[in-house]
Amino acid sequence: MNRLLEPELMIEPEQVSAYAEADFEEPHSNFIDLLKHYCSTLYEARSVLDLGCGPGDITFKLTKAFPKATIDAVDGSGEMLKFAEDILEGKPWLHGRINFIHSMIQDFNSTTQYDLIISNSLLHHIPEPLVFWNKIKELSSPETYIFIMDLLRPDTIEEAQRLRDLYVKYEPEILQRDFYNSLLAAFEVDEVREQLAKEDLSNLDVLQVTDRHLIVFGNI
Ligand SMILES: C[S@@+](CC[C@H](N)C(=O)[O-])C[C@H]1O[C@@H](n2cnc3c(N)ncnc32)[C@H](O)[C@@H]1O
Repeated sequence: MNRLLEPELMIEPEQVSAYAEADFEEPHSNFIDLLKHYCSTLYEARSVLDLGCGPGDITFKLTKAFPKATIDAVDGSGEMLKFAEDILEGKPWLHGRINFIHSMIQDFNSTTQYDLIISNSLLHHIPEPLVFWNKIKELSSPETYIFIMDLLRPDTIEEAQRLRDLYVKYEPEILQRDFYNSLLAAFEVDEVREQLAKEDLSNLDVLQVTDRHLIVFGNI
């Protein structure tokens, strides 16, 4: 099945509130567990970058996983960041530990040497994936650990429908639509390996970790 693009940014008000209010406890906790498993030495990390942070659920989880870290969290959607900022407002003990930054990743630059760069569910939103990997390279030093999770494109429409019904059947219709469209916009493991090879990033490992997720991890 060929890749079918979905809109890059999530800015529709109904779409954003459905996403921000959805229960992602299972996949997001799995993200943190896998991250800790594959970078167990990073507990002491001081600087973390979260690309495409959305309403910040994973960003907030990162503050617990990396208690000494300051986290820069970037998203191109002001609507998403409004949710994230409102949650941060209610957690004064985290003020100074998270910087939510409104920017397209294409335009984002930083002088920080990040110990860790993470991203969840962003890659499939980017029309030209090499733009994403280029930015990762640009923002990394040889010591930076990379941990990316994204959806996997199923082989068939029927499989995409099956996964939608299995995982988001009882969620609002708009979330079901977005999940389905995201599956169709995602990449296969071999496509991601090709992207990494083109960008001279073959040091990074690619692994399928669930029926709908892959991870990319390592030092560049
Ligand atoms: C599916 S959400 C994932 C949010 C969050 N990482 C999570 O796991 O809950 C993808 C986010 O990436 C943002 N996004 C898409 N393309 C982007 C780009 N080029 N630069 C910055 N943010 C982008 C969207 O606006 C959206 O908030």
